[in-house]
Amino acid sequence: MLLELQGLSVSFRTSRGQVEVVSGLSFGIPRGSFFGLAGESGCGKSLTALAIMGLLPEGARASGRVLFEGTDLLSLPPAEMRCLRGKELAMVFQEPMTSLNPVLRVGYQVMEALLAHRPLSKAEAQQRAVELLRAVRLPSPELRLREYPHQLSGGMRQRVMLAMAIACGPKLLLADEPTTALDVTIEAQILELIDSLRRQRQMAVLLISHDLATLAEWADTIGVMYAGRLMELGPAGELFSRPLHPYTRGLLESLPRAGQPLRPIPGMVPPPWRLPEGCKFSDRCPFAQQACRRQEPELQALRPAHAARCIRAEELFL
Ligand SMILES: Nc1ncnc2c1ncn2[C@@H]1O[C@H](COP(=O)(O)OP(=O)(O)OP(=O)(O)O)[C@@H](O)[C@H]1O
Ligand SMILES: [Mg+2]
Repeated sequence: MLLELQGLSVSFRTSRGQVEVVSGLSFGIPRGSFFGLAGESGCGKSLTALAIMGLLPEGARASGRVLFEGTDLLSLPPAEMRCLRGKELAMVFQEPMTSLNPVLRVGYQVMEALLAHRPLSKAEAQQRAVELLRAVRLPSPELRLREYPHQLSGGMRQRVMLAMAIACGPKLLLADEPTTALDVTIEAQILELIDSLRRQRQMAVLLISHDLATLAEWADTIGVMYAGRLMELGPAGELFSRPLHPYTRGLLESLPRAGQPLRPIPGMVPPPWRLPEGCKFSDRCPFAQQACRRQEPELQALRPAHAARCIRAEELFL
């Protein structure tokens, strides 16, 4: 396993006391594989990625273990974590304009990413920057190097961000909703690019998206989060076609489909300090019974490599 989360939790100190927003997350990402993390807004996807990267915001505390090639990143001294970041693990964010510096030329920023972890002469760095921009299929890379971020389209900016992320050949790329700001055609191109970089470079990918259909198209394995928990974990195709958790079913039914009315999951995600007793989805679940409200179910394997956190899954969906 390249990355293995063992009971990762993230909490914040707030006026309501310590509030847990990611709770006991456990899953593994094999070398070179494509993992998809799904779930509605606020379920803890971004904080999970930030915890892995050691980039949690002020006031957040992570516990559990984040094993990267066997080393627990959570207990790594900050200086060593900085060394790994960018070199071994890299991340691209939702809105590339916020991560690119608007006053610096694209070429300078890509070269900076290259030079962060290894010494290169200026000429070498320039040459490598062009190669990287070519690898992310940015048209006319030599010309683009001299431009500023605002001169590029959204899709081109995301390609530049990707070039910077892969500059030092990371073993794991975390992509947090990298395409939500883009239109569907460009989205497909960027995801195809991420997948081909993964294959060429044996680089594992953790893709975060609220869109299960998109994840099912690219990921080998999908984890579905709700209220900071993993509710279902399984092979992408099977999870999409034969889901085992009512929440996953709800997400799939709420996807837009031609000629069908949208069927959103009723109700709203409760705030982390007001989660129901027992199963955290029970107050929105059409299948919930008394027992569901008493005790929180464990994530249990019901098919090979396919697990769900639901006491009724076996009887209802297997
Ligand atoms: N700085 C903070 N202080 C307190 N709570 C926070 C803070 N940042 C995030 N949270 C809470 O943590 C929870 C998870 O947030 P996170 O950003 O990981 O969700 P997400 O799944 O990425 O959502 P989205 O799909 O909207 O990006 C949310 O309930 C959010 O309100
Ligand atoms: Mg997010």
